[in-house]
Amino acid sequence: ARSPVLIINCKNYKEAAGGRIDSLAAAAAGAAAKYGVRIALAPPQHLLGAVKGEDLTVLAQHIDDKGVGSTTGYVVPELLGESGVSGALINHSEHRVSADQVASLVPRLRGLDMISVVCVKDSAEAANLSRHRPDYIAIEPPELIGSGRSVSSERPELIGEAAEAIRGADGTKLLCGAGITSGADVRKALELGSKGILVASGVVKSSDPAAAIAELAQAMS
Ligand code: G3P
Repeated sequence: ARSPVLIINCKNYKEAAGGRIDSLAAAAAGAAAKYGVRIALAPPQHLLGAVKGEDLTVLAQHIDDKGVGSTTGYVVPELLGESGVSGALINHSEHRVSADQVASLVPRLRGLDMISVVCVKDSAEAANLSRHRPDYIAIEPPELIGSGRSVSSERPELIGEAAEAIRGADGTKLLCGAGITSGADVRKALELGSKGILVASGVVKSSDPAAAIAELAQAMS
């Protein structure tokens, strides 16, 4: 089995804006190398081409189900791939898309050898969208996102439930997120059957993002 993955979603937090993305990327790459874990960074969309790092995977926060060519203002997977972006979150709670769009985008990413992370809000949605066999289904209870109260302590049963819900999807792994701030939150989620973590505010809005990343990465190693 591959090692767990830590996905840092920068959202549109101003702490990740402009040149500040570089220190987040450096901290993430440093922690990935030091603790031997996989870390992916999802910068604000306009910075996607700007983030580089050998030990770092870069993911888009959202992609559009639009074509290459004469489409304006959309973010399309083929062009991302050309800029070194490895994959994308799809259907994040803060950027929901239709089930049809998920059905179209997951195989499209697979065809490009890119990573798909389909976000869901509950086990029923996990079961439904896992039919497309994305690389990951990421369950995040919307009410805990950004709350500092973690899915692992507030909704532990949900993680096992979601793992069960996606069991039929060959090759799809479960991630979870919402309110993760500590190494203990991470360890508990992994114990409950998650294969990795999505985190945003616990890292990006921390007074010491590098230390926050290191704590979460260490808990995965
Ligand atoms: O994509 C991860 C995100 O929605 C979780 O946010 O701030 O609760 O870690 P946060």
